[in-house]
Amino acid sequence: MVAWTVSAARRFRSEAPASDKGASRVMPGHWSPEELPWEAFDSERVDQGLIPLVKAASMVESNGRDYAAYLNRVFADDAQVCDMMNGWAHEEVQHGVVLGRWAMLADPDFDYDAALARFRAGYAIRTDVDASIRGSRTGEMIARCMVEVGTSSFYSALADRTDEPLLKAICRRIAADELRHYALFYRTMKRYLATERLNRFQRIRIAFLRVLETEDDELAYAWFAANDGSGHGYDRKRSNRAYMRESYPLYRPHHTRRSMTMIFKAVGLKPTGYLSRVLSMLAIALMGFRARRLARA
Ligand SMILES: [Fe+2]
Ligand SMILES: [Fe+2]
Repeated sequence: MVAWTVSAARRFRSEAPASDKGASRVMPGHWSPEELPWEAFDSERVDQGLIPLVKAASMVESNGRDYAAYLNRVFADDAQVCDMMNGWAHEEVQHGVVLGRWAMLADPDFDYDAALARFRAGYAIRTDVDASIRGSRTGEMIARCMVEVGTSSFYSALADRTDEPLLKAICRRIAADELRHYALFYRTMKRYLATERLNRFQRIRIAFLRVLETEDDELAYAWFAANDGSGHGYDRKRSNRAYMRESYPLYRPHHTRRSMTMIFKAVGLKPTGYLSRVLSMLAIALMGFRARRLARA
C-alpha cells in the first residue's frame, strides 16, 4: 500500500516558503496531501508518456517559494496581499511535492530531490526587486493570472487524459486550486486597477508578453532537469520542443476555449464575445498544427 508517509510530510514542510514555516496558512477550500487516495495508485494504468510531463511540472511548482519572496517585495506595504501570497505559495509547493511523489511511484528510478537540486542549480528567478518587473502591481497580477490560466488548463487536460486513478485525483485537486488562484489574483488586480488605471491596451500587452514567456527557460529547464539523461548540456530549444511534443496533444478544444475566456476576462475584454470565440478557434488550429509538426520531427 502506498501512503502519504511521515517523511513525505516532513519534506513538504521543509519545502514550504520561508515566510510560511511554522504557520498554518492553508487557504479556504484547500486539501491536504493525506486526503489523496495514495492506495489507489495503479501502475498498470500509468500512461508512460505522461510521466515526463508530471516530473517537469513538479519542478516548476516547487518554485513557489521564490515567487512568494519576489511578490512579498513587490507588495511589501500590503499585508493582506503578502499573506495571500504566502498561502498561495504554500499550495504551489505542495503541488510540486505531491506530483513528485506520484512520479516516483510511476518511475521508481526517478529521484525527485536530485532532479529538484539540478533544476534549482540551473534556474532561479530574481527576488531582489523593489517593484514588479511588469511595471505595476496591476500588471503583476495580470501576469500571475496568465500563469494560473496555463496551469489550470494543463492539470484539467492531464486529469481528463489519464486513466490512472491517483494521478486523476491529484490533477483534479490541483486544477481546482489553480482556478481559485486565478480568482484571487483577478480580484487583487481589480483592486489595484482602480488606482493604477492601466488602459486595456497596456493590460493586453502584459498578458500577451507573459503568454509568450511560456517558451522561456522555466518550463524548458524543468523538463531538462527532470527528464534529460542524454548527457548533453541544456539546450532551451531542444527541451522546449520535447515539452511541447508531449503536452500539446493533451489539450482538447474545450480546454483552449476556457483558457481564452479567462485571458479575456483578465484584460477587461468580454470573455465569451465574438473576438474570444475567433481567437479560440485560431489557438486550437495553431496548437493542432504545432502538435502534428512536433510529432513528425
Ligand atoms: Fe500549482
Ligand atoms: Fe496556482
